[in-house]
Amino acid sequence: MSAEPITLEPIAKTDDDYAVVVAIHNATHPRFAVTENEYKRDDEHHHHSGHRRWLAKRGGRPVGYAGLGKMTWSDRPGKLYMEMVVPEGEADDVREALYQVVLDEARQAGADTLAAFSEGDHPVDDAFKRSKGFVQTHQDEDSELEVGTVDWARWEPCIAAVEAQGLEVATLAEYRLRCPEATERMYALYVETFQDVPSPEPLTPDTFENYAKYVGRPDYPAHLVAVVLDGLTPVGMLTQRLRELDATVVDVGLAGVLRAYRGRGVARALKVKSLQLLRDAGVTLVRTGNNANNPMFRLNQAIGFKQMPPWMHLALDLGSAE
Ligand SMILES: CC(C)(COP(=O)(O)OP(=O)(O)OC[C@H]1O[C@@H](n2cnc3c(N)ncnc32)[C@H](O)[C@@H]1OP(=O)(O)O)[C@@H](O)C(=O)NCCC(=O)NCCS
Repeated sequence: MSAEPITLEPIAKTDDDYAVVVAIHNATHPRFAVTENEYKRDDEHHHHSGHRRWLAKRGGRPVGYAGLGKMTWSDRPGKLYMEMVVPEGEADDVREALYQVVLDEARQAGADTLAAFSEGDHPVDDAFKRSKGFVQTHQDEDSELEVGTVDWARWEPCIAAVEAQGLEVATLAEYRLRCPEATERMYALYVETFQDVPSPEPLTPDTFENYAKYVGRPDYPAHLVAVVLDGLTPVGMLTQRLRELDATVVDVGLAGVLRAYRGRGVARALKVKSLQLLRDAGVTLVRTGNNANNPMFRLNQAIGFKQMPPWMHLALDLGSAE
């Protein structure tokens, strides 16, 4: 352990503080590097207002940070999320100091569960959490597709197969031009399908207000979001998210098909349509995360997505934590 002690200070979420946080985040998770702008926008979208962070310094040098709060998408009372962002090369005294402040705050807030994530290729971070009693609740497989490897002749007929059923495969931008209530109708599709994403605890959909803000953001590209329509009713969607640091990479968001339309190839057509849109927009790499039991995971594998280190979901029962 280094001779220099760790000091902790609260992070105020000013622009200066975001610059420090993002530098640590990007050093820890280079595959998921973001701009300060993206980080701030995600904070506003995913965290309730009570979310707080602490910065750890060694000899005045920032070496890691941790956060505590509720996530808007999983807000069961009593459950709080811990962020722990410390580069793998840092010694465990950084993690220990940050963990203790998070644990104290979580207890003071009356929480019963502390949830966290571990990235599959971060064994030091993961081992630290498990040494504290965190157990894995489930896992999302992360995968990537090089768009240039898609066998278009094999997959493109999937779109016609859905259109032969009287459905239309289009973009969200086209749908918005045609339907003044597009956002309200897409929200209904989002709510039904988001709640069906497999999860050990029920997921909490965004409020309409938060959703409308999200789908109006510049990184939510309506011209690249594929929808399947039955008349003016959207019955399936596949969303994308642009990256500010690299226009050739996108992250896939939610794939969702209304229960009444499942098992008819709608998700397959959405996937192929969105890959066509991305290819034509110059995107070369598509990233996504799904549970290995999800039909989307198997479909992605068949199209050519390659597995990357997974994201593990962990939880600590605060009744038993030391
Ligand atoms: C996952 C989901 C989008 C699939 O939509 P869908 O239109 O029913 O899927 P498709 O009919 O296009 O089928 C795609 C593939 O999955 C398989 N599949 C679909 N539903 C399945 C099920 N319940 N069990 C097993 N396999 C299934 C199909 O057989 C097909 O495989 P194939 O190409 O080898 O034949 C839909 O079930 C859904 O909205 N679920 C809730 C939200 C969710 O979990 N989204 C994914 C994570 S973001």
